[in-house]
Amino acid sequence: MHIQQNISLKPFNTFGIDVPAEYFTELEDIESLPELTAEQQPKHILGGGSNILLTQPLAGLVVHNKLKGISVAKEDDTNVWLKVQSGEVWHDVVLFAISNGWGGIENLALIPGTVGAAPMQNIGAYGVEAKNVIETVTCWHWEEKTFLTLNSSECSFGYRDSIFKHGLKDKAIITSVVFKLQKQPEYNTSYGAIQQELEHMGITELSVKAIANAVMNIRRSKLPDPAVIGNAGSFFKNPTISVASYSELQPSFPHIPSYPVNEATVKIPAGWLIEQCGWKGYRAGDTGVHAKQALVLVNYAHASGSDIWKLSGEIVDSVKKKFGIELEREVQVW
Ligand code: EPU
Repeated sequence: MHIQQNISLKPFNTFGIDVPAEYFTELEDIESLPELTAEQQPKHILGGGSNILLTQPLAGLVVHNKLKGISVAKEDDTNVWLKVQSGEVWHDVVLFAISNGWGGIENLALIPGTVGAAPMQNIGAYGVEAKNVIETVTCWHWEEKTFLTLNSSECSFGYRDSIFKHGLKDKAIITSVVFKLQKQPEYNTSYGAIQQELEHMGITELSVKAIANAVMNIRRSKLPDPAVIGNAGSFFKNPTISVASYSELQPSFPHIPSYPVNEATVKIPAGWLIEQCGWKGYRAGDTGVHAKQALVLVNYAHASGSDIWKLSGEIVDSVKKKFGIELEREVQVW
């Protein structure tokens, strides 16, 4: 295990924020975990760095997860169980699945980040969440110095949420995930824009590849490419409010969109709320709000994490003032 000192994290976060890590190492195999455990410093686990906002130099040890490997753990006539190491790039796993015609994660094409983030964040897009296909998650527990394997219900998945953000927060590092994929895929094209895009593409026969391509087209048209403009995808979660609060807002905001969650609650697109407050396309110095999707905050070049944090606070305040709704940040703030 090679530990480096004072390493810039700029290449390791998609916001492109330049802060140093006090110590930095790469985790390439699970056999190194006991040795890594013996390092007594606070540990920050970094995957693709696509969902973090770095606001200060990081004290302690940044562990860059480079655990690699995709294998078929088992299969039967209808399903295949794919075991994937947590440092694999998520989109590569999607490409691997679609190249084999296996269904389940095609709607999650082009989500940035590594496989470890899939259970941590319960990544989701276009009507599908990672929890729909996660069979088990294996992690290394730093204090117990052992591997734990959790089944899907033990992961306590919620909207962009899991046990890894609560009970196991900072206590464990996800090492691998088993995904249960379908050999005869059940396509999910109910999310409005997919159907429209498939028609636009002239697709008459559905396939996992066609759906993934449609999703990629939609994402590329709305979301900034981090290689060009720094960003971490959706900066906030879509808030959930009660049906009663929603009814109170409707007379003043008749066009307020909503998606039912259950009988008592609805989800409101945060992008809409932010746009209504006039932020869409806003820019101050190198920080801004993406012009095509107001839920995405951007770093045009040299913004600091605190500049972006400050802008996000102003957005939270203005949405609260106009709608009485408290936005919650989706990105992890370090
Ligand atoms: N909208 C606006 N203005 C905007 C953006 C959105 O009015 O600037 C409204 C529109 O009514 C639109 C609706 O919001 O129809 C939904 O927008 P979109 O389909 O772009 O999805 P989203 O709710 O903003 C969520 C996820 C995305 C995921 C998409 C597609 C969250 C926090 N974000 O965004 O996930 O790709 O749905 O399923 O749930 C991410 O988590 O980083 C992410 C990109």
